[in-house]
Amino acid sequence: MSIPLLGLGTFRLKDQVVIDSVSQALALGYRAIDTAQIYGNEAEVGHAMAASGIPRDQLFLTSKIWTENLGADKLIPSLKDSLSKLRTDYLDLTLIHWPSPQGAVPVAEFMGALEEARAQGLTRQMGVSNFTIDLLRQAIAVVGKEAIATNQIELHPYLQNRTLVEFMHSQGIAVTSYMTLGYGKVLQDPVILEIAGQHNATPAQVTLAWAMQLGYAVIPSSTRRENLAGNLKARELKLNDEDMARIAALDSGLRLTNPESLAPAWD
Ligand SMILES: NC(=O)c1ccc[n+]([C@@H]2O[C@H](COP(=O)([O-])OP(=O)(O)OC[C@H]3O[C@@H](n4cnc5c(N)ncnc54)[C@H](OP(=O)(O)O)[C@@H]3O)[C@@H](O)[C@H]2O)c1
Repeated sequence: MSIPLLGLGTFRLKDQVVIDSVSQALALGYRAIDTAQIYGNEAEVGHAMAASGIPRDQLFLTSKIWTENLGADKLIPSLKDSLSKLRTDYLDLTLIHWPSPQGAVPVAEFMGALEEARAQGLTRQMGVSNFTIDLLRQAIAVVGKEAIATNQIELHPYLQNRTLVEFMHSQGIAVTSYMTLGYGKVLQDPVILEIAGQHNATPAQVTLAWAMQLGYAVIPSSTRRENLAGNLKARELKLNDEDMARIAALDSGLRLTNPESLAPAWD
């Protein structure tokens, strides 16, 4: 079991915009799609996947359980609802989207329910998102580190999250970087632009290649065919040690996703 190194994000994309993005991406060769219950686009993602004609076993589909559905009585029914919207009978990866606000639902309860969902065949792999070291330790205590495929976290050149990543490496938990492009912010950075110029690549390719070279899975989103195609080609770009060191030095701890109602005390 493993996680594809490059997939397509769908946050903020709705209706025809998400159908077009997913359809174009699949036509270009993307095979992994990341959605979530809260994105309100699972039905459209399911529509685009079905319309592509690509066999289900060639696709890698991730969705995330919203915080309102973390209770043991709600998690599996909500996942079944997601599956029906997505027009499939299993997910490749199901993530806990955010830890339960104020710990209202204990980690043991939702990780236990997620494990049960996997046992029922509703998901092939399971994982978490926006989990701190402390929360990961709690999740590991319930299901074991081998059962946690990934922790999907905000990670880009301006927020490299090294303490958390080090802990995840020590546990063998894969890193998925979300907002790898810093929602576009990183693409104006002079260092990234210079490295891009040296490799005849785009700033987005440099940023994605940097993350993938560190072994992180990435899920950039785009509404433009040109950007979707360019981002996919980031897999072919090889950065040198100096490039990697220059990007490592860009970390400034800039966190773009920090919703007051959801965010735990970050590491
Ligand atoms: N687990 C979580 O809590 C969480 C939170 C946030 C995001 N995510 C996941 O991570 C995915 C990625 O994050 P994100 O979509 O917020 O941000 P992102 O991928 O860092 O950035 C997307 C933005 O970058 C632009 N872009 C993409 N490729 C580009 C290129 N080659 N050149 C120039 N601009 C480019 C896009 O604009 P255009 O449309 O114009 O290309 C879009 O505005 C999400 O879609 C979602 O699936 C998860």
